[in-house]
Amino acid sequence: MFAVKVSEAEDKPTLYADLAEQLGGLLTGETDFIANAANMAALIFNGLPDLNWAGFYLMKEGELVLGPFQGKPACVRIAVGKGVCGTAAARRESVVVEDVELFPGHIACDAASRSELVVPLIRDGVVIGVLDLDAPLPSRFDEEDRAGCEELVRIFLAQTP
Ligand code: SME
Repeated sequence: MFAVKVSEAEDKPTLYADLAEQLGGLLTGETDFIANAANMAALIFNGLPDLNWAGFYLMKEGELVLGPFQGKPACVRIAVGKGVCGTAAARRESVVVEDVELFPGHIACDAASRSELVVPLIRDGVVIGVLDLDAPLPSRFDEEDRAGCEELVRIFLAQTP
């Protein structure tokens, strides 16, 4: 069985380096997109502190559709350009929201969410989905989280055709 080793790292770069190493191991030898996305969501949800939701929305016929995740049930479809997820997809870059109540158009799936980080998945120049993390605390995510999650997404895309 796989076990998520909860990192004892005290600084975020070390925490994300630990997670990157675990993700590489978790995905090695498996190329199924859904299986790898599901394990990545579980790794992040259990390995990062102070999250209430972690998972994917995948681009299908021009809109984002709920994919593998951990947390409470969530809204299923998000149009590109809408909410934090749709904004990251439209801008083709990560979005860090310190206070979701101050983000115009934020889509409240879990009332507990206070801050959010969304990283787009871009393959061959095409946005194929987004990784979405929600936290029950304001200002949970900073530039180190953004960089760390972008590296996790890079590993996922490199190992998952
Ligand atoms: N808050 C997101 C919607 C997805 S849930 O947080 C899981 C948004 O505004 O796009």
